[in-house]
Amino acid sequence: MGIERAAVIGGGTMGSGIAHVLALGGIPVTLIEAKKELFDKALAGIAKNMDRQAAKNVITKDDKDKAMARISPGLSVEAAAGADIVIEAIWENLAAKKEVFAKLDKACGPKAILASNTSSISITELAAATKRPGQVVGMHFMNPVPVMKLVELIRGVATSEETFAAVKTLAEKLGKTPVSARDYPGFISNRILMPMINEAACALMEGVGSREDIDTVMKLGMNHPMGPLALADYIGLDVCLSIMEVLYSGFCDSKYRPCPLLRKLVEAGHLGRKTGKGFYDYGNG
Ligand code: CAA
Repeated sequence: MGIERAAVIGGGTMGSGIAHVLALGGIPVTLIEAKKELFDKALAGIAKNMDRQAAKNVITKDDKDKAMARISPGLSVEAAAGADIVIEAIWENLAAKKEVFAKLDKACGPKAILASNTSSISITELAAATKRPGQVVGMHFMNPVPVMKLVELIRGVATSEETFAAVKTLAEKLGKTPVSARDYPGFISNRILMPMINEAACALMEGVGSREDIDTVMKLGMNHPMGPLALADYIGLDVCLSIMEVLYSGFCDSKYRPCPLLRKLVEAGHLGRKTGKGFYDYGNG
């Protein structure tokens, strides 16, 4: 099926980034947030990131203006009713996501595809909250969405080939490179990335190296654009912990045990850049 209208649930970093690339890709998108102020905040963030791209000549001012005009607000899940695809990008919580999927299933047209941007939660389980499991799929974008080329596409047990083909075509239309992953905890990306971040936290906890030295090893020794501790702060330590919990419980394997230091920082509310403090201190700005 052709995708001509989209909706995104959640205007946080990922949801805003997804709305940004959809709008630039020529697709009208309803960005759904619980309150108008949250939508306005998300829209301002998108405009700022498009200005950044315009300043670097990645897009023109006209591209920006046209794309911004394609983004409209929605204040409830029901506002997704007219969309051909809905991409859910709320917080990483199974119960909350299942509730959204059950509501979307009732609100959306019978042909609509329901996708989740989850970083590790089972697509099969989200699909089971609907009466259209063949039309439920994982579409996992990377942060920052306008910059990162990858979209991980995850087939749940029941995802149809037609659904998979439609989201693959959409990802390519947005200028992304799709890869296919099976529905195992953490899929491909976070099954590999998160244990590395977790191990970096353990190395810090055990005093193997300072945070700067651990990050420098991975930046200069392995050519990673960011060290694992800086990247964890960028992703959010709460998100990293919740992904480790999914790996640990999903595989019942001690090799995925979340690092106690990671857990301690989350308990303290030191969630990374978004709270101003994580493995590093970002001050107020
Ligand atoms: N919107 C638009 N453009 C953006 C942007 C945004 N939000 N953020 C950065 N950019 C652009 C900048 O304008 C800049 O453009 P040019 O190359 O044209 O100059 C470019 O991206 C690089 O940005 P900066 O110069 O500000 O900074 P940088 O060179 O240090 O790069 C970075 C920043 C792109 C974030 C880079 O450090 C990087 O790639 N880090 C690793 C990111 C990563 O691993 N992401 C995946 C996280 S895991 C995930 O998302 C999934 C999950 O489930 C947890």
